[in-house]
Amino acid sequence: MTYTVMLQVSKSDDTFLYRQVIDLISENIDSGTLRPGDRLPSLRKMSRTVGVSIPTVRQAYVELERQRRVESRPQSGFYVRYRGGNAIVRPTPSYAGNPISLNCRTLMERVYNGINDPALVPLGIANPTMAKPAAKALHRAMKRVMARAEERSIGYSATLGEPALRRQIAYHYLDTTGVQVDPEHIGITNGGQEALLLALKGVASEGDVIAVETPTYHGLLELIDSLGMLAIEVETCPEEGVVIAELERTLQTHDVKACMFSTTLSNPLGVTMPEKDRRRLVEVLERYDTVLIEDDVYGDLRFDGVRPVPAQFLGGGARIITCGSFSKTAAPGYRIGWVVTDRYIDKIEQLKRSFSCSSGLLQQLTLAEFLATGDYSRHLKALRPVLKQNAERMAALVSEHFPADTRTSKPVGGAVSWLEMPGGVNAEALFDEAIEAGISITPGHIFSPCSCYTNFLRLSYGHPWTERTEEAMRWRPFSAATRARVCRSPRNTH
Ligand SMILES: Cc1ncc(COP(=O)(O)O)c(C=O)c1O
Repeated sequence: MTYTVMLQVSKSDDTFLYRQVIDLISENIDSGTLRPGDRLPSLRKMSRTVGVSIPTVRQAYVELERQRRVESRPQSGFYVRYRGGNAIVRPTPSYAGNPISLNCRTLMERVYNGINDPALVPLGIANPTMAKPAAKALHRAMKRVMARAEERSIGYSATLGEPALRRQIAYHYLDTTGVQVDPEHIGITNGGQEALLLALKGVASEGDVIAVETPTYHGLLELIDSLGMLAIEVETCPEEGVVIAELERTLQTHDVKACMFSTTLSNPLGVTMPEKDRRRLVEVLERYDTVLIEDDVYGDLRFDGVRPVPAQFLGGGARIITCGSFSKTAAPGYRIGWVVTDRYIDKIEQLKRSFSCSSGLLQQLTLAEFLATGDYSRHLKALRPVLKQNAERMAALVSEHFPADTRTSKPVGGAVSWLEMPGGVNAEALFDEAIEAGISITPGHIFSPCSCYTNFLRLSYGHPWTERTEEAMRWRPFSAATRARVCRSPRNTH
């Protein structure tokens, strides 16, 4: 929007004219007359309005830009910059400002403790491979590698990873999507999380604003926070992913350094962005000169076996760094992930060297063998139907046992369901009770920097389906989770 600003300067005043223009615009910004994203009048119009020369106005605008109060956009003009407020929030955990539990552990820590406790029914962890572990085939692959590679297998790997594994990953893209990826553009990392870290460090710095889906993977929010960056949520549709028009609006009004979106089977919504939207996304990134860190760690896990083409490979994807991982599909404990990028690969190599030197060579050689023999593809073929069946079992139990007004995502892949419970439910209180009852679940709070999913839960079906799972799904407080819980919940904000 362009605003007409009422300005007056006094030529008899001692203050430089351009300074007076600056003061007047600043006053309009401070009073809210000019708001973030508003376009300042053109140089010509402003010069006419206030009766000073065009160079004087230009000088004022340039100084305001230097002060970071406004920004210039090519062929468009000067716009008021965003300077904080409700829309950008530090992704500190959602309980900030609320009493911390007596044992002084944060909610995120409590969730991770639940996830890592083998005694609990694991409805809280997104670990799809657990549903049909590939342990035996991987052990066999590792044995073959050790027999062949002997001393080499205990050595250091090259910084960007073992060439054989980079080649196998490139071949896997070709095989599943028809896309030709240069192995030189692939860098091996310590899991998907390090891929996201290296990508983010490679393109953004402390204080930068990063656009994320809402809800989004909590590990992403922790990462953004630990790097001193800021997260801004972009409206996300449960059927199609990030709403591109909303993304554009965000990019127009905020100085967004990078976006971090999952294009396939996002966590926790499980949504896959349609190809037409991926193409629009690429266009928008280009237009606003913004980077996308494309989280694709679930790309291989659609129940129908169709692997969508990552946005990077749809043409014009030079600004995209795609992050993958074997954690969700083969072996989370191996901690092997990767980045794909041409433009940023040298930067990522330098960061990788300084942070972790390289990733474990034995795990890389084992995975290269696992892929090369076709065992990986066979394993995925066997894993997907198990996950699909588990998802159906979970959906049936939710509809049978949870409150009637519970709404749930309809997973088409991956390992998690996203549930909206009745409005009065506090998922954090439910989480604490569930832990007491021997069940781990993930409360919605941690999937947003602003605590807006307090009555949501993420439940995982990525584990062998047993009697215990059924019992856990029938746990009485799930079905009793109605508005009556309002009075028990100290933090009912939704
Ligand atoms: C969406 C998403 N991205 C990245 C990761 C990190 O993957 P990794 O375990 O390979 O570090 C996870 C793990 O839960 C995830 O859910």
